[in-house]
Amino acid sequence: MDVSRFCGASHVVVVVGKGGVGKTTVTAALARTAADAGLDVLVVALDDSGGLPALFGREEPFGYDEVLLDPGDPGRERSAEVPGRVPGRVRGRVLTPDAALVEYLADHGLGRVSRRLVQTGALEVVSTAIPGVREMLVLARLKQIERSGVAGLVVLDAPATGHAVTFLTSSGGLADAARGGPLRSQAEQVVEMLSDPARCQVLLVTAPEETPVNEVVETAYRLEDEVGVRLGPVVVNGCYPVLEGLSEDPSAAARSAGLPEPSGADRTRLAEAASFRSHRQLLQRHQVARLAAELPLPQIELPYVFSAALGADDLAPLSAALSAGIEALP
Ligand SMILES: Nc1ncnc2c1ncn2[C@@H]1O[C@H](COP(=O)(O)OP(=O)(O)OP(=O)(O)O)[C@@H](O)[C@H]1O
Ligand SMILES: [Mg+2]
Repeated sequence: MDVSRFCGASHVVVVVGKGGVGKTTVTAALARTAADAGLDVLVVALDDSGGLPALFGREEPFGYDEVLLDPGDPGRERSAEVPGRVPGRVRGRVLTPDAALVEYLADHGLGRVSRRLVQTGALEVVSTAIPGVREMLVLARLKQIERSGVAGLVVLDAPATGHAVTFLTSSGGLADAARGGPLRSQAEQVVEMLSDPARCQVLLVTAPEETPVNEVVETAYRLEDEVGVRLGPVVVNGCYPVLEGLSEDPSAAARSAGLPEPSGADRTRLAEAASFRSHRQLLQRHQVARLAAELPLPQIELPYVFSAALGADDLAPLSAALSAGIEALP
C-alpha cells in the first residue's frame, strides 16, 4: 500500500500496546513516516511524552502548548526522495483530563472560571461521581482537534493496553448511561469518531514475546467487539534481524574469514553468544508465527535497534522499516 494513502486513511491513529513494548517509539516512527509523506502531524501524549522528544533530537518534554518537534524543512535531503514532496511538520503536546476540561470550558465562554475550577479539584469530584468522565473528556478534546483540521494526522500515544481498553470503551458506557445534555452528546460524538474508519483507527503494537502477543490478541478482539474501532496492521517491534551462520564453529569461521585462531576462552564466549542469539531468534519467530495464526491482521516488523538509549539517529531506520512494512501491505 502506498505510504501516503496509509497515513491519510484516517485522521487519528491511536497507538495501543502492552506497557514497554514500544508504543512511544512506534508513535514517533509513524509521525516521522507520515511527515515524510507530506502530512502535518500532531502527536498527542496522555501524561508525559516519555522518550518521544529525544527521538526527534529534542530535550524539552511536551507541555499543554504544542512543541515543534520537526519543522518539516522542505530543503532537507529526505525530501529529495520523492521529488516535489514537501515534508510536513511534526508537533507534539500533552492532553490530560484537566487540560481537556479547561479547554472545553474556555471554548464555551467559561475560560475565566475554568482554571480555578480545575485547581480546586472539581474534576476529581466529578470524575469520582461519573466513572469514565476523565477518559471521555480527553477523547472529546481529541475529537475537537480532529474536527478542527489543525493537523493532517493526529497520532495518540495511548496508555498501556489494560487502560487503553477502558480508555476507549468508557465513552460508549457514558453515552448509554447519561440521560442527556452535553455529557451524553459529547460521549456520542466520541463513539461516532471511534467507530468511523475514515476518522480513527488503532495501530496495535507488540513485542515478539509470549505475554505481549497474548495481550495484543485479546486486546484486538476486545477493541473490535466493544469499541467497533478499525484495527490497522499489528506492529511487531524489536525483532532481531536474523543472523545466518550462528551454528558455525568459531575456529572454522575465523579461518574462512582469514582471522587468527580465537583463544579457548574466546571460542567459548563466541559459542555462548551465538547460542543465545539463535535461541532468541527462534523464540521470536515462533511468537510472530503464533500471532499470525491467532490474529488475522497484517503484521509490520520493526527491527531491534542495538543502541543504549534510542535517539534521533535511530528514528530514521525505524521509520524506513515502517514505510517498507506499509508498502508491503495488500
Ligand atoms: N525497536 C527498538 N529497538 C531497541 N529498543 C527499543 C525499540 N523500541 C523501543 N525500544 C526501547 O524500549 C523501551 C520502551 O519503549 P517505549 O518507551 O517506546 O515503550 P512504551 O510502550 O511507550 O512504554 P510505556 O508503556 O512505558 O509507555 C525504551 O527504552 C525504548 O528506547
Ligand atoms: Mg510510552
